[in-house]
Amino acid sequence: MKKVFLTGASSGIGLAIAQSLIARGDEVWGTSRNLIRLEQLPRLHPVLLDLSNSRSIEEAFKSAHLGAGYFDVVINNAGRGHFGPAEHLSEQEIQKQFQVLVFSHLQLMRLALAVMRARGQGLIINVTSLASRLPVPFMAAYNAAKAAMAAFTMSIQLELPDARIQIVDLQPADISTAFNNAVTRSSQNDPRYEKRVARTWTTVDRNMTNAPKPELVAKHVLQLIDSKSPPSRITVGDVFQAKVAPFIFRFLPQRLRVWGLKRYYGI
Ligand SMILES: NC(=O)c1ccc[n+]([C@@H]2O[C@H](COP(=O)([O-])OP(=O)(O)OC[C@H]3O[C@@H](n4cnc5c(N)ncnc54)[C@H](OP(=O)(O)O)[C@@H]3O)[C@@H](O)[C@H]2O)c1
Repeated sequence: MKKVFLTGASSGIGLAIAQSLIARGDEVWGTSRNLIRLEQLPRLHPVLLDLSNSRSIEEAFKSAHLGAGYFDVVINNAGRGHFGPAEHLSEQEIQKQFQVLVFSHLQLMRLALAVMRARGQGLIINVTSLASRLPVPFMAAYNAAKAAMAAFTMSIQLELPDARIQIVDLQPADISTAFNNAVTRSSQNDPRYEKRVARTWTTVDRNMTNAPKPELVAKHVLQLIDSKSPPSRITVGDVFQAKVAPFIFRFLPQRLRVWGLKRYYGI
C-alpha cells in the first residue's frame, strides 16, 4: 500500500489517478481549492490547496504529511492554462501562469524532497506537458511555464545525490479532460489575431474532444510507481502526438518546426 500526495485530484487527470490508486488499495491525499469538488472515496483524504498561495501550499502539504506520517509518492499535477496572443499577455497573467505551473510546483517539490530525504526514498512525478516541446499557439505563458518546469526537473535529475529519490517528468499530450473549460482567455480584441485565434481554438478543442481519456495517464502513473527504475521522462497520449510528432520534431530545423506547427493548427 502506497501513500500518495496528489494535487488537482478533483478533475481530469488527477481524478483518474486518484481513482486508480484507490481501486488498488493505495491511500491518497488529494487536493482541490474547493473540497466539495473532491469525490468521496474510501482512502481519499481531502486536502484544501490553492497553488496561487504559497502559505496554502505549505500548510496543505505539512498537515497532510502529519496525518500520513510519510509519502511514498508526490504528484505535482494541478494546473490551468491561459489563451490569448503572446503580444498582449500582461505581466500579471504571465506571473499567474508561472505561479500556478512553476513556482508552486517547485515549492511542493522542495517540501517533498525534505521529507523524502529524511526517509531516504520517494518518487516525485511532475506533470508538465508536451507543450513544453511542441508549443501550442496562443498559449505562450503556458508553454513557457511547462518548459521551465521540464528544464528544472531535468536539472534536478542531474544533481540529486540520492538514487533512492526519483523524479519523473510526465508530459501528457492532448488528454480529454475539462482543462479547456478552465482556461482563462485574454479579453483584448485585436482584429489582426481574431481569425488565427479562432482557428487555433477550434483545433485545440477538437483535439481535446478526440484525445485519449485521462485513465491512460493514470495507467502510466501506476506503472511509474511500481517501477524500480522509472524513466526520467515519459510522454502520454495518442500515438501520433506522443510518439511520431516528437520523434520527427527532434530532427527538424526550427524553421520547419514553426511551419509544421502552424499547418497543424491551421494558421
Ligand atoms: N488535458 C490535457 O490535454 C493536458 C495536456 C498536457 C498537460 N496537462 C496538465 O495536466 C494537469 C491536469 O490537467 P487536467 O487536464 O486534468 O485539467 P482539469 O481537468 O482542468 O484539472 C485541473 C486540476 O487542477 C486543479 N487546479 C487548477 N488550478 C488550481 C490552483 N490555482 N490551485 C490548486 N489547484 C488547481 C483543479 O482543482 P480545483 O479546480 O478543484 O481546485 C483540478 O483538479 C495540468 O497541470 C495540465 O497542465 C493536461
